[in-house]
Amino acid sequence: MGKPKVVLGVSGGIAAYKACELLRRLTESGHDVRVVPTAASLNFVGEATWAALSGNPASTEVWESVHEVPHVRIGQGADLVVVAPATADMLAKAAHGLADDLLTNTLLTARCPVVFAPAMHTEMWEHPATQENVATLRGRGAVVIEPAVGRLTGKDTGKGRLPDPEEIFEVCVRVLARGVAEPDLAGRHVVISAGGTREPLDPVRFLGNRSSGKQGYALARTAVARGARVTLVSANAALADPAGVDLVRVGTALQLREAVLKAAADADAVVMAAAVADFRPAEYAGGKIKKKDGQEPAPVALVRNPDILAEISADRAREGQVVVGFAAETDDVLANGRSKLLRKGCDLLVVNEVGEAKTFGSEENEAVILSSDGSELAVPYGPKESLADVIWDQVAPRIGARRA
Ligand code: CTP
Repeated sequence: MGKPKVVLGVSGGIAAYKACELLRRLTESGHDVRVVPTAASLNFVGEATWAALSGNPASTEVWESVHEVPHVRIGQGADLVVVAPATADMLAKAAHGLADDLLTNTLLTARCPVVFAPAMHTEMWEHPATQENVATLRGRGAVVIEPAVGRLTGKDTGKGRLPDPEEIFEVCVRVLARGVAEPDLAGRHVVISAGGTREPLDPVRFLGNRSSGKQGYALARTAVARGARVTLVSANAALADPAGVDLVRVGTALQLREAVLKAAADADAVVMAAAVADFRPAEYAGGKIKKKDGQEPAPVALVRNPDILAEISADRAREGQVVVGFAAETDDVLANGRSKLLRKGCDLLVVNEVGEAKTFGSEENEAVILSSDGSELAVPYGPKESLADVIWDQVAPRIGARRA
């Protein structure tokens, strides 16, 4: 099998320079990349850069090498088309099927998955015209990555930044691996909690746990690649922001509960991958707790935190909402998992064995997915992304089933 063929479309925004890094990652990981820049984008990054980095000619117009019929062949032969950055103008052209240069022609002839990574000023992104064009493209099966929030060109800050090239690359690799032009979570809103909560004792100390957040972030990345709108409620995870997610950072279990309940109001699925502290200190010392000579330390009194998973399962914000929990167990893993599934009232429970060296912080995981319908699915040891995809395979059909 030859290298996967990727077309990198570049439209005319200042973020075009970041596409160089995306191109480098794609070529270094064994993809055959053909860059198709728009004429406007050449004001930002020149043709020579694209040709040198990709090892292929980079043409803009349909009139170059006409005998090779590039306006048809490039799109036909592609396994993936990614447009990064995609300007408001490019999204409008793509939504309406205009074909006035090589990139827009390529978009019309491609039958493979298409990813758009928009970048523009907040006002342009939020304009109803752009939003309708994005909805049209998503409705046709394209993955349109939500822009990131942050510094824009000039002094402005807001939504509209191109996500990190590394994260766009992650989306591309996943979309390419799935290879389907119809993402199964398109039009769905999924909420994922990730990481571990921290319950403060005083301004410098907290009760925490060993969760890294990697499984929750893997769920977020895979959901984006499957076309979902993703809210990621992240508790203390020191990980890169995945592209295309609405990221809400929280610290404590109570903050996580508030953020998850708010996002769940219109969610099709809620996945509680976070390790939520069951208890918090009954009292918070406003100043640092000091040791006193000759005195034993005072015991720390704890109170229960609300069980967010049980609450969401019992009181679904939306008809047909699918709720998934995780169970971290050290002993009697399956028996504990089964009783936990019943106790929590969720639809699926992903049970995994944890220990000092197992699961926490590692890149790999193995699990059994228990379902409220009695079925059981063992997922062999492998990358957390693979487990995440199996979880979405289980969730996606249940969303429809619960609603029907
Ligand atoms: N969870 C939650 N709220 C809590 C505690 C846990 O929503 N206060 C969720 C976790 O996000 C996870 C699931 O419940 O999806 C199971 O968490 P786990 O700690 O394994 O279960 P516990 O309810 O704490 O049960 P036990 O401590 O008895 O093992």
